[in-house]
Amino acid sequence: MKEVAKYLIKVNAEFKDGQIVPEIPYEEVMRLVNEPNIVIIKTGIPETTLRSIIDTTRAWASETPLAEGPDTFDNNQHKQRLHIAKIQKAPQLFHDHTFDAILELDEPAKQTLLTVFDPMRQFWNKLTENNEEYGIRKGQPYFHPQVTHYPLGGSFFGRHWHPLNPQKVGTILALNQYGKDYNSGGTGYVINDHIVETEGFQDVGDLILFRYDLPHWVSPSSFADRFSWDDPAGRWVAILPFYDPWGTPAEKDEPQGWKAHIQSAKNVTSEATI
Ligand SMILES: [Fe+2]
Repeated sequence: MKEVAKYLIKVNAEFKDGQIVPEIPYEEVMRLVNEPNIVIIKTGIPETTLRSIIDTTRAWASETPLAEGPDTFDNNQHKQRLHIAKIQKAPQLFHDHTFDAILELDEPAKQTLLTVFDPMRQFWNKLTENNEEYGIRKGQPYFHPQVTHYPLGGSFFGRHWHPLNPQKVGTILALNQYGKDYNSGGTGYVINDHIVETEGFQDVGDLILFRYDLPHWVSPSSFADRFSWDDPAGRWVAILPFYDPWGTPAEKDEPQGWKAHIQSAKNVTSEATI
């Protein structure tokens, strides 16, 4: 475990029997997340496995018409987003692929996606002490596995936030490499009035963990590059939101409850070694 920047902590892990096993106990990881800090788990998931998620998603998308109507949250779809998000009320430009019905995908795409989403699901279950499975459950929270492509030339996601529960901890897995596959763009956060940019700190296979009520955003890919929806170049991530799409949206005012956690956490970290 290493503090690589203020509020940014890297934690090593092993990828063993399809499970992400961190070098410190799950409760300790959650304590760091809740202080709050941004925690980057070096999952150890092989790069070839991660890249196969991009290839499989692209192959699936090439055979699946773009979704255009309102989201139904009960299917597998992909959509080019360029608007003010209805739920988060933040501007956005990216191409997302949402697999709410992941178990209904055809083989071998289903198995390929599950080689990454299942370890993420199990890891999140361990962190939050849940035992949730995939599947659409109207009126209840459920998983919304998503592969997001941030094209070159100006993709981004504006500052927004979410209710802390039931997600508790957000997860963002890098499917390709900063400095090689793309040179700009990453997730940013604000903690205790301090801006934490993870751009350049997240390598392929790194899983960012963040307290879900922290204000966050995705910084833009460089406008110096030419934009194209059809060019697969750019940043690719896998995320695993867990929420009820028909539930209460985030408060209009940014949640600041975590500030109280910082005060109490300071007393603890002054004795801890990072
Ligand atoms: Fe978000």
